[in-house]
Amino acid sequence: MRTAIYPGSFDPVTYGHIDIIKRSAKMVDKLIIGVLSNSSKTPLFSVEERVNILEKATKDMLKEVTKDIPNVEVTSFAGLLIDFADACNAKIIVRGLRAVTDFEYELQWAQANRAVRPHLDTLFLVTNVEYSYLSSSAVRELARYHGDVSLFVPPYVEQKLDEKLDSKENEHEQN
Ligand code: PNS
Repeated sequence: MRTAIYPGSFDPVTYGHIDIIKRSAKMVDKLIIGVLSNSSKTPLFSVEERVNILEKATKDMLKEVTKDIPNVEVTSFAGLLIDFADACNAKIIVRGLRAVTDFEYELQWAQANRAVRPHLDTLFLVTNVEYSYLSSSAVRELARYHGDVSLFVPPYVEQKLDEKLDSKENEHEQN
């Protein structure tokens, strides 16, 4: 049984991620998407809030958009990627590469992970050129200023983004 993990922040999931999910799911028996719940990125929310949001909103979004891909599972993880890979009994880590700028960072971690887990290979898929410029942070920024994100995320994700940003705006107005 060939199991791969596809880890990431998925905050939110974009068409770029979905493209990688669809393509990599065809290459393996089981693809486990791991949503990182602890992140070193500048937090917009507290740790608890972020865990809840990532586990609920992102997981829901991923579940919705991957429901037609039978060998894909979604879960969250905290801590090290190699430990998550061990827990999943996975020997493959899937990552998407958009541009040279991604490569340096990805190469470093792929090498480090392989140094401690020699059986663990990172499989890089080159992002569809259509999505080479796409990032979750750009989607968040666009949505924050009411830009049209329909080219970048599925309608369900767009709806979730609107709900999230509306509730944040309401919160702001009340304070
Ligand atoms: O979607 P992202 O933010 O580019 O994903 C980054 C991710 C989740 C792959 C990376 O931050 C990660 O695996 N973090 C867990 C801690 C860890 O093991 N870091 C080193 C390996 S990349």
